[in-house]
This record gives sequence, structure tokens and C-alpha cells, in this order.
Amino acid sequence: MGNTILDSIEEMKAIDCSDMLSVIEGFSGQCREAVRLGRTVVLGDLEEIGSKVSSILILGMGGSGVSGDIAKSYLENELRVPLLVNKSYGVPGYVNENTLVFAVSYSGDTEETLSGFDEAVKRNCKVVSITTGGKLAERANDLGFQVVKIPAGIQPRSALGYLFLPLLVVLSRMGFVSEKQKEIEETISLMQSIKEIYGANIPVNENIAKGLALRLYNKLPVIYGFSGLSDVVAFRWKCQFNENSKIPSFWHVLPELNHNETVSWECLEEITKNFTLILLRDKDEPLGIKKRFDVTHELIEHKFSGVETVWAEGKSKLARMFSLIYLGDFVSYYLALLYGVDPSPVERIKVLKDKLAE
Ligand code: PA5
Repeated sequence: MGNTILDSIEEMKAIDCSDMLSVIEGFSGQCREAVRLGRTVVLGDLEEIGSKVSSILILGMGGSGVSGDIAKSYLENELRVPLLVNKSYGVPGYVNENTLVFAVSYSGDTEETLSGFDEAVKRNCKVVSITTGGKLAERANDLGFQVVKIPAGIQPRSALGYLFLPLLVVLSRMGFVSEKQKEIEETISLMQSIKEIYGANIPVNENIAKGLALRLYNKLPVIYGFSGLSDVVAFRWKCQFNENSKIPSFWHVLPELNHNETVSWECLEEITKNFTLILLRDKDEPLGIKKRFDVTHELIEHKFSGVETVWAEGKSKLARMFSLIYLGDFVSYYLALLYGVDPSPVERIKVLKDKLAE
């Protein structure tokens, strides 16, 4: 059944009513524009405060908040101050005037992020906002805070370039991390060439993303990444399966999962035989992680309907992370079409936000 849909652009477009495909396929262009926005935002007094900052906090939920997770995973080893991501109301207790805060919200109207923004302002933090507008842009503009204004009209999770890259560029401009120009260039070129092999025009029998989506049809994906590179990617894949493909999915991270979840694949065999394990790996993963992937695979593979191993591509850490993220975007998109669901709407999130706002 499915392969006929994935080989017919017309049938795909009939399901993908909001044309998420164009946004996914245009990702490298989005990244270029996002870098330009990060470079051109006027930093003003932020240029001078770098040495006073003792911590960095990123506020954001869902498709916006994942940009903070990516920043944390990508930059943690290089940063000399702690970077935390807050995915709830308010801000943690340690936050004070020496905390640099980023408020990331595609709509600018997410209540948890707004609550964190307000609390950060009360504590005299400097706040940089990344948003299309909404209350966040209004409040930040009123206070004369920096706002990276990004284009509206797409799904937050499809705007990952806009939400993440300005954050990275600003952190680099402020001197918290080194210049990332080379890594960003490599990542954007890699996204361009990856699109040529995972894109909708490439038929099922030559397309890794379509092939993986077909094998995942009627299966529940369990995604394992490893700490420091594919941890956040595993989370992103899970969220993309949830929101694009509208299916449950679970994720975990090595080495931690070896201390709990590895034991779990024992009972419930009738259920878990419909699960597919996806391993997000990298040729340069540390030896300890390599061994853990291999041994874990061997110990539990027979409990799943299958195991899919996906390898990162590219040289720099950023490119390798994004090569995996981008594959997940395509796979979750194709899987949505196989289920006959429009990948764009997230009706239940909307209903929930409306009810909470009442
Ligand atoms: O993908 C989505 O629509 C959600 O995960 C949103 O990103 C989340 O609800 C937060 O909204 P926003 O990104 O507008 O702050």
C-alpha cells in the first residue's frame, strides 16, 4: 500500500494540505536566513556583559524548546558557564541578574515561556527573545530587550533553523563559544545534499528515509541516542513522530538507559514485538558508547520487530547532529502520509492551549 503513496507526489500533496514538504525541503535556505537574522540583530549593551554572565538559561516549550536542548548538547563541553533549559513555568531559583536568558517561542504566546520571561525580568536578567511576535515580542519591545524576529506561517517544529541558529550565532557573538561559521556552512551544505537523497522526488527503492518510514509503518518507534550528540536527536525524533506522524514513540539515552531501561524488555513481549528499535550512532562515538550500543543491541534485539541503525554524516559535531535530525524530519513526514494524516496540524495542542487560556 504505502509505497504507492510515497512514490506519487500528487497523492502525497493531497494529504499534506499545508505543504510541510516544501518547508522540510527548504530547510537549508531557512538555515541561511536564520544565520543572517542572528548576525544582524543589534546586541547593544549585551556586547559588553559577556564576562559578568555566570549562567545561561533557555526558556522554551515543545518545538521551540528543543532548540535549547540542541544548544546544550552541542555546546556543553565548550561553555565555561552552565547552560540550562527550562521547560516549565517561572525560572529556577539560582537565576539572578548575572543570568543571560533566551526566551524562545515560535508563536510568542506560550504561557510557560511568558511566565519564565516575566520572572526573569523581575530578577533583572537580560533577556534575548527569538519569536515571530505575540505577547513575547510585545513585552520584550516594551522593555527595550533584543528580539530576533523570525518569519511566521509554519509549524514551530518545522522552524528549527530559525529557532536554533540565531541562538547559536548570538552566543558566539557574545564570546561564550567560538566562531561557528565553518561548522554552520558545512551543516547547511550537508542539508542541501541530504535533501537530494531523502527528498520526495527520489523513489522509494533509492530513498533511505522513505524506506525507513515504510518499515516503521504499524510499529512503535523506540529511539536510543547517546549522551553529548544524539541524545537530543532521539528526543527530536520522538517528538516528530508524535506531532507529524501522530503516533506514540519513546526515547532514551546511553549510557543511562543501561542502568534501567535495558532490563525492561522482558515482560509484555506480545506488545513490544510491535516496537522497532532505532539506534542513532556516530562513527566517532566514544569507545565506551560503541561497546554499549553493540552489547545493548545484542541483548535486546530479539524483543523488537526489528532494529534500525542510523549513522550520522558529516565532519563537524553540528553537521553530524543535524544530519540525524534532518533524516528524522523526513521519516516522520513520510510516515504521516502512510497513515493518511496531515503532518502539520496539532489539533490537541491547540485545544489544550485554548482551554488553558479560558
Ligand atoms: O510543535 C508545536 O506546535 C508545539 O510543540 C509548540 O512548539 C509548543 O506548544 C510551544 O509553542 P511555541 O513554539 O509557539 O512557543
